[in-house]
Amino acid sequence: MAVAKLHMACNLITSTLLNYQNLARSSQLILPTLYNHHSNSLNILPSITTSRRRRISTVYNAVKAEESLQNKTTPVASSKLVLVIGASGGVGQLVVASLLNRNIKSRLLVRDPEKATTLFGEQDEDKLQVFKGDIRNPEDLDPSIFEGVTHVICCTGTTAFPSKRWDGDNTPERVDCDGARNLISALPPSLKRVVLVSSVGVTKFNELPWSIMNLCGVLKYKKMGEDCLIKSGLPYTIIRPGRLTDGPYTSYDLNTLLKATAGERRAVVISQGDKLVGEVSRLVVAEACLQALDIECTQGQIYEINSVKGEGPESNKDKWEELFRAATAKS
Ligand SMILES: NC(=O)c1ccc[n+]([C@@H]2O[C@H](COP(=O)([O-])OP(=O)(O)OC[C@H]3O[C@@H](n4cnc5c(N)ncnc54)[C@H](OP(=O)(O)O)[C@@H]3O)[C@@H](O)[C@H]2O)c1
Repeated sequence: MAVAKLHMACNLITSTLLNYQNLARSSQLILPTLYNHHSNSLNILPSITTSRRRRISTVYNAVKAEESLQNKTTPVASSKLVLVIGASGGVGQLVVASLLNRNIKSRLLVRDPEKATTLFGEQDEDKLQVFKGDIRNPEDLDPSIFEGVTHVICCTGTTAFPSKRWDGDNTPERVDCDGARNLISALPPSLKRVVLVSSVGVTKFNELPWSIMNLCGVLKYKKMGEDCLIKSGLPYTIIRPGRLTDGPYTSYDLNTLLKATAGERRAVVISQGDKLVGEVSRLVVAEACLQALDIECTQGQIYEINSVKGEGPESNKDKWEELFRAATAKS
């Protein structure tokens, strides 16, 4: 009886709050290759793809189309070099596509560099560099990966419950806790900002309904990852999304998908104190990460983020600053 109740509660939570597992299933349908490259033994071989630009990926085109659609002004090239970890994931892809579109140099740390090429095309190496590495393996995190990096966005993750994405021990404990700790320990103190994507509910993993989502520890381990960053002394911003919607942006019909979904969920709700429950568009999370890099008041802060129907800040820095400031003032 108790097991049956737990099962029902589990179903309810996974479908209404942080539906990581369903997301993983849909991701598998759309991009099976994403789950076929789990190597635990990537030797330290930070390899840069050096070939020249030839083709542009669907993700990049889609974000570009979306940004043109919103009539945005693309900022000029900057002196930033942003390291993105989790670049092949839902949020990560959008972060990288926006960086490319804004002429901001980026470096990716991915387990499968070929996947990055498929997603982002072959770009000039002064615009996009790809290193191979698994954050669970400290030996993969060679100092050369961090050379010249000014900012970091980490949006790695795995499923909350056992799935194919746990293959090779890629569990929440290993990714969200051990991996985050390895990465944070390897980061140079010179960084201007480290943005970590975590999750709402991490401070309440022992309380219902969060305790159900946390049955395999995902929230607890994400909190441990957060704590590690906070204690590191690095200038950080932690973004805790609600249940992620839209995407995972790997469909060949990506353009349509972006216009249809992000168009409705542009209004942004930011809060502090882990009180927020709801959903957020991956596009909004990606934009929040990018904006936090440059908005001074977000340093040393933790924000929960949702998005709702309506007009949003899009890529307007002043509007984002206002949202972050208002959230900080309220808490
Ligand atoms: N889904 C939700 O509703 C929800 C809600 C709140 C918070 N979040 C969190 O939000 C963040 C972004 O979510 P998402 O759905 O965009 O992520 P995602 O699509 O699951 O992508 C995860 C990324 O992490 C990478 N990764 C996994 N294990 C790794 C490892 N050992 N070493 C290096 N990279 C590794 C994956 O690379 P591979 O391609 O190599 O697998 C992928 O690029 C995650 O932290 C997630 O937990 C999700």
